[in-house]
Amino acid sequence: MRRPHARNRVDSNTNDQQKMDPAIKFHTRTISTRSTKSKHTKSKLAIVITLIGLLSCYYLLKSKTKPFSKKYGIIIDGGSTGTRIHVFGYRIESGGKVVFDFEEGVMKVNPGLSAYAEDPEGAGGSVEELVEFGKRRVPRELWGETEVWLMATAGMRLLDSEVQDRILDACRRVLRKSGFKFQDSWASVITGSDEGLYAWVIANYALGALGGDPLETTGIIELGGASAQVTFVSTEPVPPEFSRTIKFGNFTYNIYSHSFLHFGQNAAFEALRESLVSGNHHSAAESLEKGIVMDPCTPKGYSHDVESWKLSPGSLTEKNRFASTLHSRGNFSECRSAALTLLHKGKERCSYQDCHIGSTFIPKLQGKFLATENFFHTSKFFGLGQRAFLSNLIVAGEQFCGEDWSRLKKKHQSFKDEDLVHYCFSSAYIVALLHDSLGIALDDQR
Ligand SMILES: *[C@@H]1O[C@H](CO)[C@@H](O)[C@H](O)[C@H]1NC(C)=O
Ligand SMILES: *[C@@H]1O[C@H](CO)[C@@H](O)[C@H](O)[C@H]1NC(C)=O
Repeated sequence: MRRPHARNRVDSNTNDQQKMDPAIKFHTRTISTRSTKSKHTKSKLAIVITLIGLLSCYYLLKSKTKPFSKKYGIIIDGGSTGTRIHVFGYRIESGGKVVFDFEEGVMKVNPGLSAYAEDPEGAGGSVEELVEFGKRRVPRELWGETEVWLMATAGMRLLDSEVQDRILDACRRVLRKSGFKFQDSWASVITGSDEGLYAWVIANYALGALGGDPLETTGIIELGGASAQVTFVSTEPVPPEFSRTIKFGNFTYNIYSHSFLHFGQNAAFEALRESLVSGNHHSAAESLEKGIVMDPCTPKGYSHDVESWKLSPGSLTEKNRFASTLHSRGNFSECRSAALTLLHKGKERCSYQDCHIGSTFIPKLQGKFLATENFFHTSKFFGLGQRAFLSNLIVAGEQFCGEDWSRLKKKHQSFKDEDLVHYCFSSAYIVALLHDSLGIALDDQR
C-alpha cells in the first residue's frame, strides 16, 4: 500500500520536530489501514503536537485574544512514570489560526505523582520544581495571564480517590501560589476516554481535519506506561460506553474511544513477569527443570533484579524467590506470543462481537492512524525509519532479544540496566498489539 503523501508528511514532521525541540519526547507517526490521499497542509503544526500540548489548543480556540501577540500556556502532564511540564508559546493570527511554537521547553521529573501516595507533599515538591522551570521560560509580566493546567493520567487512576485527592490538593497549593493563572479545577485526574479524546481533537485540529469529512480524520493509538488508548471515528455501531460524539462545524464525529488500563507498556511488562513466575503462561515459557521458568523477553545473561519489580505486589523474599526462578533466554517470537497471550487474557469473557484486547470491544480500525508515546520511544531506540515500521521492528527485536546481555550493555552504555532490559519486550509487545491484535499490516507505511 503506497501513500506517498502521508509518508512525506510524516518525514518532514520528524525532522522539523527534532530541529525545533529535541527535548520533546512525545511524538507521532502515522500508520494506515486504508489508502487515502491525505492533505499535506499544516504538517508542521501536526508534528509539534503533544497529547497534552494540544489539549490546550482546545481551550485556546475558545478564548478571544488579540491577534499577533505572543502568549504562553503551561501543561503539567502527570504520567505514570514521571511528571512533565510543557511550556509552549503561541500566536493567534488574523483569522483565528493558532500557531504553536514549542521552543519554550519541556522538563520531566521522576517519579510520577502516583508514587507519592504516602507523601502527598512530595508530589507538591515535584510540581514546584517544574513551576520554577516554567518561570524561567515565561516572561515575568506574562505570568498572571499564563494558564497552568495539571492533568494526571493512568498512574493516578490506579489509586483510591482519597489518595488522588490528597496528591492533587498538594499540587493545587503549589500552583495557586505559583504566580501563574490557575483554578483548582484545572488540576485533575482525567479519564482514559478523555485522554484519548483530547489527543484526537488536538491531532485532527492540527492536521486540518476537524470541520471536514469524519472519514478523513486520523485515529490515535497511544501506548503509555500504565495504559493504552485507542481513539478513532468508526462507522460501526459502538456500544454507548465506548462512544463519544463531537460536533465541529457542520459535522458530527462519532468516535470510539477507550483507555486500556494495565495495558500500557510498563504495566504489561510487569504483568508478563508475574504470569511467567506464577505459571499461568505455558506457550512461551517452558520449564526445563522443576522451579526454573524461561523468560523469553529478557536477553540471556541478564540476572533479574528484584529492585526493578516496582509494580509487583508481594514481599521482598517472595520477589527474590520469583527472580531466582526466572531464567533469561531472550527469543523474540516466543516473547511476542507471550505478549499476545497477555493481550488476549479475558477474551473468553468478551460479550461483544469482537474483542481485540482483553474482553473489550474495539470496532474494526478505519482510516489513518497516529501511533504515539512508547511506539515512538521504541522506534527511536532501534533507529527505525518511517517505512514498513513493523516489519523492521521485528528484525530489530529479533536481534535485540537474541543478543547477549553483556554485549547489549556494551553497545548501549548510556542506558540504565532497568531501562535497557525492557526493549526486547517493547518490540514484541508493539508487534503483538498493533499487528497481531489490531490487524495493522506489517508493511504499513508509517
Ligand atoms: C455549513 O452548512 C451551511 C448550510 O448548508 C453552509 O452555508 C456553510 O457554508 C457550511 N459551513 C461549512 C464550514 O462548511
Ligand atoms: C525461538 O523460539 C522458536 C519457537 O519456540 C524457535 O523455533 C526458535 O528456534 C527460537 N529461536 C532461537 C534463536 O532460539
